[in-house]
Amino acid sequence: MKTRKVLAGIALALLGVVGAGAHAQQPPLKIGAVLEVTGPFASIARQIEQGMRLYVAQHGDTVAGRKVELIIKDSTGAQPDVAKRLVTELVTRDKVDFVVGFGLTPNAMAAAPVVTEAKVPTIIMNAATSVIVSKSPYMARVSMTLPQVTLPIAQWALKNNIKKVYTLVADYGPGLDAEATFKKTFTAGGGQIVGDVRTPLKSPDFAPYIQRIKDAKPEAVFVFLPAGEQGIAFMKGYRERGLAEAGIRVIGTGDMIEDDIIEAIGDSALGVVSTHHYSAAHESPVNKAYVKAYEERFKMRPNFMSVGGYDGMAVVYEVTQKLNGKIDPDKAMDVIKGMKIDSPRGPIQIDATTRDVVQTVYVRRVEKKDGKLYNVEFDKFDNVRDPGN
Ligand code: PHB
Repeated sequence: MKTRKVLAGIALALLGVVGAGAHAQQPPLKIGAVLEVTGPFASIARQIEQGMRLYVAQHGDTVAGRKVELIIKDSTGAQPDVAKRLVTELVTRDKVDFVVGFGLTPNAMAAAPVVTEAKVPTIIMNAATSVIVSKSPYMARVSMTLPQVTLPIAQWALKNNIKKVYTLVADYGPGLDAEATFKKTFTAGGGQIVGDVRTPLKSPDFAPYIQRIKDAKPEAVFVFLPAGEQGIAFMKGYRERGLAEAGIRVIGTGDMIEDDIIEAIGDSALGVVSTHHYSAAHESPVNKAYVKAYEERFKMRPNFMSVGGYDGMAVVYEVTQKLNGKIDPDKAMDVIKGMKIDSPRGPIQIDATTRDVVQTVYVRRVEKKDGKLYNVEFDKFDNVRDPGN
């Protein structure tokens, strides 16, 4: 009797060990994020990371039996060499299942050859120069492209009797994409470009450019500046130099007037018309719940960057679920191609051929709602793909 009990005890203990062993065999799901955590673009990284973390908080930190492990690496700004080294570390040393992140184009471009060689599925959560995803078959993008969000504002300007425009863009990939798309679409529709300027990505001083724009007397200035501080600086110069009083309006992509900075810009933002894929004021139950959860958790308003982080994690979770936790890179890309996501911005799809996002682009005007400034959507262009350049 005693021996039987002991034997049964040993058997149970063994079962326990085997059970625990089977469990321990499921390694963590490693997700390596390269983000501009410190330096001049830290606000971009903060929003992307918070979007990612909100997704994990809402959907659980285990997918298909694998515990989610986020590894965040700081590229410290637009630093392609640093980004390349960090991605290399993530794929060779950490052996991540996915690479994600990339606020800035130069960092995403530097990652392309590394993730191609290592065959690691990579989700671009912001970087928006058109060409990026064509640089690696293992990349897909959930954010936007500059040509995609620029084309609609050029068409809107033409329809709204704006005939003379000056363009001002940041002097690197997304700015050049925005400038090319705006000029092409606007002039093809009979508009005239009366001047253009490209401003340095690092610490631009807008004052001299703004004076030149004023002197050229356009009806509007088309602006692309990366999300964050630069939009605040530009709009300050616009106000101080009296461009509004001179009858020059601001139009552009939503980056220079995004939700993270709009309150800091203040009332001079009122009336700015832009086209973009996301506004915190987007009217839908999914977005209302998103904004509420985000504001409660992080005590700030979400912007489009956060939605890139959130939707990027939705892609990672869905791939992992569909593949039952076994991330084969080619199978992962097959799952991503054609994937649909019910995003806070509205439904989006990853194009099966280009691996780029197809989505609605909204036309918005800055207005006050409950005493706060928002980009209020009033028109839209459905199913916009990247028109390229
Ligand atoms: C980019 O570097 O691709 C980029 C950065 C900020 C934006 C948009 C694009 O707001």
